[in-house]
Amino acid sequence: MKIYLVGGAVRDSLLNLSGSDRDWVVVGASIEEMLALGYKPVGKDFPVFLHPKTGEEYALARTERKSGKGYKGFTVYAAPDVTLEEDLQRRDLTINAMAMDDQQQLVDPWGGQRDLALKHLRHVSPAFGEDPLRVLRVARFAARFAHLGFVVAPDTHQLMCNMVEEGELEHLIAERVWREMDTALGETDARVFIEVLRACGALHVLLPELDRLFGVPQPPKWHPEIDTGLHTLMVLDQACRLSNDKTVRFAALMHDLGKGTTPTAELPRHIGHETRGIKLIDKVCRRLRVPTAYAELASLASQFHTHCHQALVLRPDTVLKLFESLDAFRRAERFEKFLLVCEADARGRLGLEDEPYPQADYLRQAFKSVADLNVPDLLREHPVPAGPQAGEAIRELLHTKRLQVLRAFVEQQRSAPQ
Ligand code: CTP
Repeated sequence: MKIYLVGGAVRDSLLNLSGSDRDWVVVGASIEEMLALGYKPVGKDFPVFLHPKTGEEYALARTERKSGKGYKGFTVYAAPDVTLEEDLQRRDLTINAMAMDDQQQLVDPWGGQRDLALKHLRHVSPAFGEDPLRVLRVARFAARFAHLGFVVAPDTHQLMCNMVEEGELEHLIAERVWREMDTALGETDARVFIEVLRACGALHVLLPELDRLFGVPQPPKWHPEIDTGLHTLMVLDQACRLSNDKTVRFAALMHDLGKGTTPTAELPRHIGHETRGIKLIDKVCRRLRVPTAYAELASLASQFHTHCHQALVLRPDTVLKLFESLDAFRRAERFEKFLLVCEADARGRLGLEDEPYPQADYLRQAFKSVADLNVPDLLREHPVPAGPQAGEAIRELLHTKRLQVLRAFVEQQRSAPQ
């Protein structure tokens, strides 16, 4: 039996990157031998084991052949006679299809080193086409390695286009799509993930609500970049710059979906896009089973981003209504994330990338002034009689007091020298 380090760990060590999980492939062994050595079996669909001490994954070398639609339609063959080269050949990209033995000798039958030097994400063989999830993986790796100059190789791009054309992506289950998307949102260049999906037609299949924004105009006075799709990518870029939080980045991507359903006669204005967006976001989130924290922030950002942009001229009661609609008093952390999405939106415009966004600080301060109100103190000053109406009376008292404080805040801000 011979054991090799494979996949991402080999790739990343050649790129001088650290942090990737170590995966191992075992050649020349049977399941029985692995069990006798104390490895713990974990694979349902193929033989994978955990090392008894390190807990790292050890897979028997295997070949896979597609035998039906969807990701479960594979015939797996794992036996001691499967060679390392055969195992590497079934993998997605050449840069992921290298192995290293215990003497640090690299095994690279499919040109991984060449493609690392060329900075090409290239499929190993036509078997790439057997797993449609790989289209998303390539987009994700393109985002991950964009800062190093990696691009999708032209023939791989063509293969991805063909897979989309043949309807392969329609067989992907929501959880797998979301997992890739979620990981991609963690990359600083998450924008590239969307661009690669769009270029091969996959965005149209996976996120038609987003794909539709490309080609939709906005008023040049507010949006010098004009195109709504382009604006959305710029907002995503800004969100990545402002925050590592993936819910903020997802909301940035979703905040203008409503602009995709503006009646043509109204263009380039987008009256009511904020509310129209909510339904579309809901549709996306249900279809892809997006976690609630992402869905909620995206929906609030869609509904209230224009309010936030107008913060400096809002009436005190509108500011309070905004806080209440955002449930900011109970969800202060989410409120902060909302402000980041709005800031990303304002800066995700051509030539305005480094403009200040005073609205966010204004609302932060306004919020702090009312959030600091102490309910027990308030009740000492204005006792509320006990009884079935007490809850409602306290709510009203709090509302009135908050409004008072906000009025004073707004007045003070407006009279302060600029
Ligand atoms: N792999 C593949 N096709 C897939 C999934 C995985 O060919 N659909 C192969 C690749 O060789 C990959 C290895 O399995 O390198 C391990 O997969 P995974 O851990 O998902 O990716 P890594 O390349 O290790 O990247 P990451 O840094 O994201 O873990």
